[in-house]
Amino acid sequence: MDRMSDRLKHCVEQIRERTDFQPEVAVVLGSGLGEYARNMDTVCEVPYSELDGFPVSTVEGHDGRFLFGYVNQVPVVLMKGRVHYYEGYEMQEVVLPIRVMGLLGAKDLLLTNAAGGICLDFQPGDLMLITDHISTAVPSPLRGPNLDELGVRFPDMSHVYDTKLCELARNQARELDISLREGVYIQCPGPAYETPAEIRMMRTLGADAAGMSTVCEAIAARHMGMRVCGISCITNMAAGIQNQPLSHEEVQETADKVKDSFEKLVTGIVSSMRKEK
Ligand code: HPA
Repeated sequence: MDRMSDRLKHCVEQIRERTDFQPEVAVVLGSGLGEYARNMDTVCEVPYSELDGFPVSTVEGHDGRFLFGYVNQVPVVLMKGRVHYYEGYEMQEVVLPIRVMGLLGAKDLLLTNAAGGICLDFQPGDLMLITDHISTAVPSPLRGPNLDELGVRFPDMSHVYDTKLCELARNQARELDISLREGVYIQCPGPAYETPAEIRMMRTLGADAAGMSTVCEAIAARHMGMRVCGISCITNMAAGIQNQPLSHEEVQETADKVKDSFEKLVTGIVSSMRKEK
């Protein structure tokens, strides 16, 4: 089973042996949204470890499972936990779960993550709508033979983050009275945090927030024609901005503090996503 298309098919088949649930929206839960499932009416859970050929997260505190259910009547598949490039997986493996959710029928994808703020106007605890990304610091998930059944060899990336979904996210934030910043996300390889010089470089290149996920997932989703929306939780200011070392504990602490509004915003966006199509 070395061909990626066979591996994808095999993963989808194993899920289909357990549930015929038809998701319309896919959500990847980043740091701070680990308890999001309490907002959903769950009908089925599938741990990644029970799927042959599926990448399993090695990060402490990253529970790995698909949750199928309803958020305000919208059929959703949630990823509780994702795998990262820094864990040693190839990019094609990192995006395998996104492709599986697309093949299960999800048309829209909401990506969430924790990120370091590069834009000096940001503060830890801010939520940021991702309006565009910079992918050049990490390999492309589309490198290698093209999966023609999913999409074209040279997909357009002019509007990765869907204009309508961005508008919908802004409207939801306004209605919920949640302040929503906007900016460009850059995916860094990790696992080390960036240096101050790297962060200055990234600011010069036009990045507003740095993280270790999301961009590869957005590219794979666009490749197969899914609409994408992304929200970052700015858990810390990126390296060199504040006179303090960065730590995973700080990231988790901030993410934990904003989880209530982050959860509300996710529910707001997901509930309105399929209404407006
Ligand atoms: N850099 C990269 N990834 C991150 C950061 C950061 O500062 N904070 C949370 N994830």
